[in-house]
Amino acid sequence: MQPAFSHRRADFPEDFLFGAATSATQIEGTAFGGAGASHWDTFALTPGNVVRGETAARACDHYHRWEEDLDLIAGAGFDAYRFSINWARLLPEGTGKPNPAALAFYDRLIDGMCARGLQPFLTLYHWDLPTALAHRGGWANRDITGWFTDYALTVQRRFGDRLASTATLNEPWCVAWLSHFIGAHAPGLRDISAAARAMHFTLTAHAGALAALRAEGAKNLGIVLNFEHVDPASPADEGAAATEEALFNRWFAEALALGRYPAKALQGLECWLPKGWQADLDAIAAPLDWLGVNYYRRALKAAVPGTPWPATREVEGPLPKTTMGWEIHPDGLSDRLVKLARLFPGLPLCVTENGMSADDHITDGAVADPDRIAYVDAHLAACRAAIAAGVPLKGYFYWSLMDNYEWALGYDKRFGLIHVDFESLKRTPKWSYQAFQHMLLPRTLSAR
Ligand code: FCB
Repeated sequence: MQPAFSHRRADFPEDFLFGAATSATQIEGTAFGGAGASHWDTFALTPGNVVRGETAARACDHYHRWEEDLDLIAGAGFDAYRFSINWARLLPEGTGKPNPAALAFYDRLIDGMCARGLQPFLTLYHWDLPTALAHRGGWANRDITGWFTDYALTVQRRFGDRLASTATLNEPWCVAWLSHFIGAHAPGLRDISAAARAMHFTLTAHAGALAALRAEGAKNLGIVLNFEHVDPASPADEGAAATEEALFNRWFAEALALGRYPAKALQGLECWLPKGWQADLDAIAAPLDWLGVNYYRRALKAAVPGTPWPATREVEGPLPKTTMGWEIHPDGLSDRLVKLARLFPGLPLCVTENGMSADDHITDGAVADPDRIAYVDAHLAACRAAIAAGVPLKGYFYWSLMDNYEWALGYDKRFGLIHVDFESLKRTPKWSYQAFQHMLLPRTLSAR
């Protein structure tokens, strides 16, 4: 039997928004429309970085199929769409003159959202750094603050009149740590000094853009951070879990909320931070209008004795897992939302990503994904619990609208509410899409 969610729209506050999320590189097709190369294009073309050497050159061909995709978003009853602009598409050299085809594409796309009653939630940076800027040191160079601010202003001046909200960065931990220390994402560095600099310059870039956008009159400005629920693998691993908590969950949040970095993380990073970093913290802690929370899973961490800071090891846990190997732990979401509401008193929060990958197949024209429906149902319950505890939670965006390019893991991690056949590019809504439809439609006040 095809399951439904156990929640109704009316179980959430009147102004609560439901949406779906994507990012530019993961769906558009970077080969189209005169886009410049981003470091993800070049990273993927370098053997060994992405499984099967898959690239984002065509992806879901959203660049040409955007109308069908927007119809599908509206058809599910969503209120809002979280999307991003590919910096390298808009500014092929990273700075300077915009690409006219990109200006026209994003105009069409944003107008298309407005025409369908979808609120455009823009993310400025979802990881597509122009290669031209990577050559100049990318996120390890302090100049990224100015490059990013200029890009943000170009976007605001062209599209700002139609945006419901703007997030500066998506997941600075991934931009900095995953990409410069662990080396799993572009630019694939494994270097603690580059990582430390990126941990700081993501925040100076955020702060520079936020101030400039605000001076330009932009409203509803925020940033999207990722969080995981961390537990020690054993009582002896408390220290490892605390290090992970400091680097992953607290570094960005505490800098933004309190203007400081956690002492536990500074232990190993302070000597690699760029000169004068302390002087940037006041600007970094400028008030936000909202905070985006991406949450997927629990991580169990163990110590790795005899290795340099901050080596920790991830241990396989006992909970049910997605095809990413991620443990499903919905209570971690309500806990985190409550903690964040304390850290940022009064600040509106929004779940900007939550979702699961599964081994989805089309059978008789349908994609049965009851596990995804159960996953979302449990996380929506966590949202309701947080709201009941007084958290000013304003929305929930499912990741992702459709199956797409899952970065270094290529095309077989399917997170979508809509199945994409990567040969024919045919879109097939899954049961989970229909579960959203059932909960959200009709999108009228009488439904409440
Ligand atoms: C998040 C990213 C998003 C997607 C999901 C699965 O870390 O923001 O692009 O890859 O994970």
